[in-house]
Amino acid sequence: MPDNIVVERDGAIAVIIVNRPKEMNALNLATMLELDRIIRSLEDDQSVGALIITGSGEKAFVAGADISEMADMGAMQAKEWARLGQQVFSRIENFPRPVIAAVNGYALGGGCELAMACDIRLASEKAKFGQPEVNLGIIPGFGGTQRLTRLVGKGQAKLLIFSGDIIDAQEALRIGLVDRVVSADELMVAAKALANKMIAKAPLAVSQAKLAINKGVEMDSESGYMFESEIFGMCFTTADQKEGMRAFLEKRKPVFSGQ
Ligand code: CAA
Repeated sequence: MPDNIVVERDGAIAVIIVNRPKEMNALNLATMLELDRIIRSLEDDQSVGALIITGSGEKAFVAGADISEMADMGAMQAKEWARLGQQVFSRIENFPRPVIAAVNGYALGGGCELAMACDIRLASEKAKFGQPEVNLGIIPGFGGTQRLTRLVGKGQAKLLIFSGDIIDAQEALRIGLVDRVVSADELMVAAKALANKMIAKAPLAVSQAKLAINKGVEMDSESGYMFESEIFGMCFTTADQKEGMRAFLEKRKPVFSGQ
């Protein structure tokens, strides 16, 4: 059976490659279950400091959920499919270490939703983004109505979702859907450099900052500030806080233990 998801290791980075290039890396059920299983196993692997998610081949990151599998679904099955996708993508969003989407081509529908579940989106200048579900008589179902709105605001989210328009990487950068655009040749190098930069920082501080941002954005500001101060205090129980501040005062580079 072909691997729908390939995982490559480069030091502390795990690169997750959606690998159905003939189908533009469309997400079918088997691929989603494989992705779920892999994310779960990487969560427990402390040798993994960051994830990069990308697509196989030249043309697509992920061109969406697999339309051939969805065409004959009934309402209940479609709802369960959406719940599965939402759960897998929430698992990626809550992965305890940084997750970078390296968007190498089409990121449409479920592909755009996958990229949005990642912490940071790096795009090749050839990347294209969109939520074209209205062309199929459906709405985004793997979190797109929620994550796109939070990322780019209600107006731009409605513009993309109601029109089904496909936008290029520069437009995605302009509206805040991607965070950085690089040349196609540089994409993986840039993604790995960024991952390694984050891996070199105090790991607990990075994962707790992720938690503060992800949970805080769901709260009212006052609760968010309270949550932040709890985590800020907790950082002062770590060896890495002692090391980080001592190293600064001693004018040397810190050596973090992740404790
Ligand atoms: N599902 C299943 N198969 C797909 C697919 C998808 N989402 N996207 C592309 N493919 C398949 C095509 O059917 C085609 O297969 P065959 O070679 O067997 O004919 C192959 O990939 C290559 O695609 P094209 O020939 O269409 O390539 P292109 O370069 O002309 O166009 C494209 C590329 C613009 C990405 C076009 O394929 C396309 O529009 N794809 C569909 C995009 C889409 O609508 N995505 C949203 C899906 S719904 C969703 O994701 C819901 C959700 O929120 C969960």
